Amino acid sequence: MEQTLLIVKPDGVKRGLVGEVIRRWEQAGFQLIGLKFELSTKEKASQHYAEHISKPFFQELVNFLTSYPIVLICFQGEGVIEKSRAIIGATNPLNAAPNTIRGEFGSSIQCNVIHGSDSADSAKRELALWFKADELINYKSS
Ligand code: RTP
Ligand code: MG
Repeated sequence: MEQTLLIVKPDGVKRGLVGEVIRRWEQAGFQLIGLKFELSTKEKASQHYAEHISKPFFQELVNFLTSYPIVLICFQGEGVIEKSRAIIGATNPLNAAPNTIRGEFGSSIQCNVIHGSDSADSAKRELALWFKADELINYKSS
């Protein structure tokens, strides 16, 4: 079954949006299989955003992600990667549709509330970075 990694970023945690994020994915019918609260190291945040290492905003992005606790979430379900990106909205909240998380709650390109894996390969890599195998729980949905 397809899985994705969501991260409620520091601005989302600060503003009390953890419940709102989980609610939207639950309502969309996805199954919660992993959840943790963590203050990321610079090393882990750099690994997470490794694809952006040569970008001018990389250091700021790593500093931001490590500035406050974050919530790591794994949801599972058919098409969860693509559907999550649709629920999340465009990277820059100014371009995000009003009914998306970033469109509704994002305040800047940095403070855009949430991360979502962008492909099956990214999801696999990111989930392995943030979760140990036994922290993702396989169970039958009721
Ligand atoms: P994310 O990885 O966090 O889910 O965001 P995304 O796929 O929508 O966007 P991505 O291109 O992967 O960029 C990762 C994060 O870097 C910040 N960013 N800043 N200053 C800039 O021009 C710029 N561009 C990207 C954003 O916070 C974005 O979420
Ligand atoms: Mg990305």
